[in-house]
Amino acid sequence: MEMIHPLAEAYAEKFSSTEPAWAVALSKETREYHPQSHMLSGHVQGRFLSVISQLMQPRYILEIGTFTGYSAGCLAEGLSREGELHTIECRESEAAVAKKYFNQLPNGHQIQLHIGNAMEIIPTLNHSWDLVFLDADKTGYCEYYTQIMKNLRKGGLLIADNIFFHGEVLQPVITGKNARAIHAFTEKIAEDNSTEKVIVTVRDGLVLILKK
Ligand SMILES: C[S@@+](CC[C@H](N)C(=O)[O-])C[C@H]1O[C@@H](n2cnc3c(N)ncnc32)[C@H](O)[C@@H]1O
Repeated sequence: MEMIHPLAEAYAEKFSSTEPAWAVALSKETREYHPQSHMLSGHVQGRFLSVISQLMQPRYILEIGTFTGYSAGCLAEGLSREGELHTIECRESEAAVAKKYFNQLPNGHQIQLHIGNAMEIIPTLNHSWDLVFLDADKTGYCEYYTQIMKNLRKGGLLIADNIFFHGEVLQPVITGKNARAIHAFTEKIAEDNSTEKVIVTVRDGLVLILKK
């Protein structure tokens, strides 16, 4: 199910900042070769991530689920001059596309692409995260939450994607494995008094979780 009316999406795209040239090229290449190109954040969500990152000017960003690098490129736009963006992707072919585009960005040398299982890589990264974007395997979201919260600094922000899971979590009975996992995650974060959170109805739903 498309969560946002196509007219609203078109209006938002028309009056948001235009996509940078690298993002247009990356989107086009992903659509041409990848059967699941819909996973890419896209124009409006990409600008949203960019604005948040520019507001925060983070020193350390973690992204879980690079895919072909669209959201990482957007997040990198706000990275501070000495900052590092660590992004994790388990599939070599997607990571290779991402790497190609990171090499074209002015601050691409500040992006470290880790190839492998995020569950195993995250505990090896000993940074105090300012900003985290969670966008990988949905059945892992609850476990990732535990891992991330250990190293998210106070005042740091976790953004998690696909909170509506294509509308499946809105059904009276949630049957799909991924939708059930997302719903369990949403219930878990709602109970956590150590954070402020808001669900934002961008694309497939984002939740913004601010560590108090
Ligand atoms: C929805 S896509 C990410 C989209 C990307 N953030 C963007 O906006 O362009 C999810 C990605 O997570 C990767 N992934 C899934 N499980 C993973 C895991 N356990 N470790 C690392 N990457 C994983 C998938 O291979 C896929 O490329």
